[in-house]
Amino acid sequence: MAAARADGVTAADVPALLAFCAAESVRLLMVRTADAAPAGAQAFEEAGFRLMDTLVYYGRPVDDCLPAAQHTLRPAVLFDAPSVAALAAEAFRDYGGHYHADSRLPRDLCDGVYVSWAERSVAVAGVADGVLLAEEAGKLVGFVTLRLNSATEGEVPLYGVHPAAQGRGIGRSLIAGALAWFRERGAARMVISTQVTNIASQTVWIRCGFTPISAHYSFHRWFD
Ligand SMILES: CC(C)(COP(=O)(O)OP(=O)(O)OC[C@H]1O[C@@H](n2cnc3c(N)ncnc32)[C@H](O)[C@@H]1OP(=O)(O)O)[C@@H](O)C(=O)NCCC(=O)NCCS
Repeated sequence: MAAARADGVTAADVPALLAFCAAESVRLLMVRTADAAPAGAQAFEEAGFRLMDTLVYYGRPVDDCLPAAQHTLRPAVLFDAPSVAALAAEAFRDYGGHYHADSRLPRDLCDGVYVSWAERSVAVAGVADGVLLAEEAGKLVGFVTLRLNSATEGEVPLYGVHPAAQGRGIGRSLIAGALAWFRERGAARMVISTQVTNIASQTVWIRCGFTPISAHYSFHRWFD
């Protein structure tokens, strides 16, 4: 097996993770920790894992006091998949996530993770529960993918704005649109996550009334 991934892990899981990787000939193990406790992180460091990013989760109630979208959004249709992929390629080039932080992973493959994820969110049923688009003069400038984690919780797995259109409130409109979309479907809460270094994204969320919930480390361990 070339690569494996485990989420919500703690220091207590390290021996089992290493044993699994040895048994399955895993080359690269990517883990996300259950929390950001230093003691847990040190256990991963001692086992040869390297820190790749720190993820922060924010959330807010989906209530009657939601921010208003300043841009008109529309739902994506299958036909939009190539344009959404092209936009994601621009928005997520050299992104600051755990793939790009690993110098052993080819840059084009790292960029491709987000391009493929965005495209499949539109084109493949079940990857997302919905995708909203922002356009200017008929050109796609932003997208946001939507997922219902449960009957009460919505999550935005991915969103992005074309670099040439950033800083003009489109990101804020996408998050406002996501909140409205979840309210229409009866969700009571929305959560979203990003790297702690993604200041623009966290600024958008704070402006939209989100507050921090939790933090998690991403570690990679190569076995060759
Ligand atoms: C995050 C992103 C979607 C925001 O979109 P946007 O259209 O630029 O967002 P907005 O214009 O609504 O707001 C951006 C805010 O961040 C601020 N900001 C941007 N870069 C910043 C920086 N480096 N430091 C501090 N603040 C910054 C802007 O000033 C603005 O704040 P304001 O409300 O005080 O004006 C966009 O930057 C993007 O696509 N980034 C690359 C992909 C990405 O990170 N996606 C999100 C993954 S969770």
